[in-house]
Amino acid sequence: MKKRSIILSTDPGIDDAVAIALALFSEELDVKLICPIFGNVSLANTKANTEKLMTLYKKTPKIVTGSSRPLLREAIDASEIHGESGMDGYDFPEATIFSDHSRTAVQAMHEVVSQEEQTTLVGIGPLTDIALFLHLYPEDLAKIDQIVVMGGSLGRGNYGVLSEFNFAADPEAAKMVFDSGVPIQVAPLEVGDQAKIMPEVTEKLRGFGEIGEMIYQLFTKYRSGSFEAGLNMYDALAIALILKPEMFELVSTRVEIETTAALTYGASLIDLNNYLELPANAEVAINVDAEKFEQWFVESFAKIK
Ligand code: RIB
Ligand code: CA
Repeated sequence: MKKRSIILSTDPGIDDAVAIALALFSEELDVKLICPIFGNVSLANTKANTEKLMTLYKKTPKIVTGSSRPLLREAIDASEIHGESGMDGYDFPEATIFSDHSRTAVQAMHEVVSQEEQTTLVGIGPLTDIALFLHLYPEDLAKIDQIVVMGGSLGRGNYGVLSEFNFAADPEAAKMVFDSGVPIQVAPLEVGDQAKIMPEVTEKLRGFGEIGEMIYQLFTKYRSGSFEAGLNMYDALAIALILKPEMFELVSTRVEIETTAALTYGASLIDLNNYLELPANAEVAINVDAEKFEQWFVESFAKIK
């Protein structure tokens, strides 16, 4: 069966490292391109982290770096969650797989999408590069089957009172994506909070070869949730949405991004009760079967050797 062509825009980032492995080692996905972007840490670090991960994973998708800063706002980061490097906790071997500097992420996205019949764009960091691609190559929109993002929140945020980090990092970009008319699926904070990785699962990773051990060591430094009470694997939920949609309860609704208010800048208004009376522009995951997610997570890493 033909594999599904995907492009990953990512800011590794410890939960990104997990999501990237789940995508790369899936038998159903063909990861055509990985575009490191600023976000959890600087672009220099997310680029270096991507190269280290590809070297350890022994995978060679194209790596093309994207934006080093958001469209308009000042740059923010999440180094307090992921460590200064963005992947603290493991002593990675020197990278031997490197990024292609001959083009931009947006140009590389255009090359892949224009050559494939259909491609899924996966955004697990700030949406700057996906927004710029949609803006600069409108003729490619018909060849994007779906945009799947980890971002936003049904309620309270994890960066601001009501804003989630990925959308808060570039609210204008997030708004451009939700205004694009391309089919979108969203994994907000809440499904990541429902599907925490518990200690008994984290311990199992140690038995899954070098990659499992690496992920385990990163988890010892990861500060989203806790080792004991459970770790939030937010980005993995976006990959799960693609590979195991039956695990989720999805609602078709309107998502608006606040880009003008001072106190709620970057908040996602997920309009489940249709107060805004606007047509739906996304399918939002409001629940996930945590047991099935945990089973899929363990089985996926057990197969990675
Ligand atoms: O809010 C969670 C998101 O922000 C995840 O993508 C995590 O990696 C950080 O980028
Ligand atoms: Ca991320």
